[in-house]
Amino acid sequence: MVLTGTQNEFELVKPVFFIGFMGSGKTSVTRHLSEHHGFDSIDADDYLVQQEGRSIADIFEADGESHFRDLETRYLRELAQGSPKLVSCGGGVVTRPENVHIMRDSGFVVYLHTTAEESSARIPDSSTRPLFKDLNNARDLLAQREPSYIEAADVQIDTVGRSVPDIAAETLGALRGAGVVTAR
Ligand code: S3P
Repeated sequence: MVLTGTQNEFELVKPVFFIGFMGSGKTSVTRHLSEHHGFDSIDADDYLVQQEGRSIADIFEADGESHFRDLETRYLRELAQGSPKLVSCGGGVVTRPENVHIMRDSGFVVYLHTTAEESSARIPDSSTRPLFKDLNNARDLLAQREPSYIEAADVQIDTVGRSVPDIAAETLGALRGAGVVTAR
């Protein structure tokens, strides 16, 4: 399920991990960068679901969050290896310090910042996200995680009120500026 870019305009020097709260646009932005600029990209949750053969909601329900987090770490380690790609991570990836080490040791970390209000508006159907309940819960969870997102990130991009192409353009500029992306 790796999206393979076709334009080969740029080259990735190392993997780039996109972190941020549910609904911050990680998947849309990585997909946009893949489709428009030729980067290989993958959604870490989709990869986990594909490998396990069941949905995230099913994993949470049958085995609990802690088991889901174990799987998340296992597959994150796999995605950090191999040819460099854009990796869109699940919103809770920073809850385990081990995951932050994996991302920072192997690649570059982009934090897509959003607010609980915006994220709630972007997630009209939360049935596939066991940890997204309502606006109040989103506010609490985001406040709890925000310091970890900031600490894990090499760069932070604000997404509030902005379009995916706009966010993707700023991200690409930041990646080029940091030398993580080079022109072919
Ligand atoms: C989670 C976010 C989800 C998914 C799982 C747990 C979280 O990913 O990994 O439901 O703890 O914030 P998205 O951020 O892609 O929705």
